[in-house]
Amino acid sequence: MLKQLFCLLTGFIAFQGLGQQIAILNSPDKQIQVKASKTHEGLLSYQVHMKGQEVIAPSTLGFVLKKPALEIKKFTLLGVDSSAVSNTWKPIWGEVKEVNNQYNELILHAKSNGVIVDLIFRIFNDGVGLRYHFPVQSGFQHFVVDQELTQFAMSGDHHAFWIPGDYDTNEYTYNKTKLSEIDATTAAAKEKDIALTALMGKNVVQTPLMMKSANGFYLNIHEASLVNYPAMHLRLDQETKTFQSALVPDAIGNKAYLQTPFSTPWRTLVMSEKAEKILESKLILNLNEPAKFGDSTWIKPQKFMGMWWEMHVGKANWPLAGGKHGANTANVKRYIDFAAQHGFDGVLVEGWNQGWEDWFGNWKEDVFDFVSPYPDYAIDSLTNYAQAKGLRLIMHHETSGAVTNYERRMDEAYQYMVSKGINTVKTGYVGKIIPRGEHHDSQWMVNHYNRVAEKAAKYHLMVDSHESVHPTGLHRTYPNWMAAEAARGSEFNNAPTLGIVPNHTTILPFTRLMGGPMDYTPGLFHMSLNQFDSTRTQKIRSTLAKQLALYITVYSPLQMAADLPENYESHLDAFQFIKDVAVDWDDTKVLAAEPGEYITIARKAKNKDTWFIGSITDEMARNISLTLDFLDAGTAYEALLYRDADDADFEKNPEAYVVEKKLVSKSSNLTFRLQRGGGCAVVLKKL
Ligand code: NOJ
Ligand code: CA
Repeated sequence: MLKQLFCLLTGFIAFQGLGQQIAILNSPDKQIQVKASKTHEGLLSYQVHMKGQEVIAPSTLGFVLKKPALEIKKFTLLGVDSSAVSNTWKPIWGEVKEVNNQYNELILHAKSNGVIVDLIFRIFNDGVGLRYHFPVQSGFQHFVVDQELTQFAMSGDHHAFWIPGDYDTNEYTYNKTKLSEIDATTAAAKEKDIALTALMGKNVVQTPLMMKSANGFYLNIHEASLVNYPAMHLRLDQETKTFQSALVPDAIGNKAYLQTPFSTPWRTLVMSEKAEKILESKLILNLNEPAKFGDSTWIKPQKFMGMWWEMHVGKANWPLAGGKHGANTANVKRYIDFAAQHGFDGVLVEGWNQGWEDWFGNWKEDVFDFVSPYPDYAIDSLTNYAQAKGLRLIMHHETSGAVTNYERRMDEAYQYMVSKGINTVKTGYVGKIIPRGEHHDSQWMVNHYNRVAEKAAKYHLMVDSHESVHPTGLHRTYPNWMAAEAARGSEFNNAPTLGIVPNHTTILPFTRLMGGPMDYTPGLFHMSLNQFDSTRTQKIRSTLAKQLALYITVYSPLQMAADLPENYESHLDAFQFIKDVAVDWDDTKVLAAEPGEYITIARKAKNKDTWFIGSITDEMARNISLTLDFLDAGTAYEALLYRDADDADFEKNPEAYVVEKKLVSKSSNLTFRLQRGGGCAVVLKKL
């Protein structure tokens, strides 16, 4: 690539109060600007403006190393490079068929305490990525990170959508407060249903962090390409409204063990005046490496059902002991029959393997071996039965946090899957991690999740990870890592204390989903949880139509129909939407969005003329009016609406819906009403 220095290099010109300006570089459309400077104390700082408004106030960069024990804070500038990049690439699966990757890059070559570090900025039209690169150099090779000192200084007391910073879990309910009102300790104290928490402090929150400023811009802070490094959380100085990276420690308190050449993950700042543009951003994907493997024909987006929710609602159970074993041959056969009859690709089976009698809570290492089915589960005949009916079983590997055990058994477990014709694995990490003292988000575990994706690819297996670290766009690099839960998923509808609040799914796309697809497991039709256990008083706080809309608003190439066959049997007309909805897309348009309030997204099915729309609201009812100008001109479409009934309400009447046909075209306005906690799903078919 031809390198051209086109940034405005003003040299070492002092400017008021801030020290010396080093360089200014704009985004390709010139709307976003990064200014790099050196403070009077010799620290490197950056500042970001969008259309002249300050989005990131001057923020300094650096590290504290443990070994060698030194600070990388005061820099001498060695040189500046810049370049312009513009290309497109095609994801193997995704929300759009082609991704535009256009940015201007600025590299500050610097030296601090004898260590050479490059600070790299990529400025896109929708935000900025920045990372540190430690090149090969004499006298500095192995190093241990104590702290990363990257600052993100906010330009005001923004509204933030946040969850408490935690070393072990991201399964919290979101809070919406001003930055000055963040109190992670109080928020976490309200959570009673998360298996394991390890709070980082009152003023520490997780990324992706979504914010809205008083003067109307949206800003999302996260990271891209999390490889060989711990996850980044954010510690807020509430006086100055400045965040600083807070890395997750290992068992002895260190953050990362590194060797040159090394590049940190990208720190990402997605920004826009429009909330819709935040959801359409491909910045994080663009900052990840291309797919690691050439042949991807074995990777397939899919829809599945599962021997799953009936255990969460108490109809059945995971262990064989206790007399309620769900994963018995006859019951799984029932799921296969139903899923095959309705055209699904897979059936997940949890509780298939020995060990569930004593799986969790004792920090025990040898739990499951992943190759020993319970005696009442005839895996060979079931796998053949499934394949004869055109679908596959999906394997479940719950590690219960005993990751050393899983690492030892992975090869054998994956060979076992291949021998049974199973090509998708759902992994799980409930409980305290072994190696003891490691955390779900530490460097060792980040390497583990990536190793699973890589090893699974060798066996041509697709992965869906639960309780793993927040995704950072690595599904571009490992396209067999189809989805992760890594947030509060639909399973929490069953949690007695907070459950899933109505605005949760209007926040998820602005937070968790910024990093990649989520196995949220939508599609619950039966909203009272006392169906099999009269002691359960909680109710799912969603209408049935909203459950359908989630197949569009929560993006994933792996979508589950989470409810029980008998609950679908009684609403087969609504179930038709789940049968018809696509899981791979040519195009996506975010039609309307406001975090914490509503989201409406339209997607065009891969290689088809059919569009799907999902529209959801929080606890407020809303009238929606959509312009369908994304449709082809000169042709009529049939719109099939699955909407809330006029008297639907997530609290009083959640299962009331209407299926309704309309004739529309490109110039139509499509109108419908979302009831409280409601939604609408639409199929638009070309006539
Ligand atoms: C938590 C997972 O998120 C859920 O899907 C699974 O059923 C349980 N762990 C048991 O492994
Ligand atoms: Ca979970």
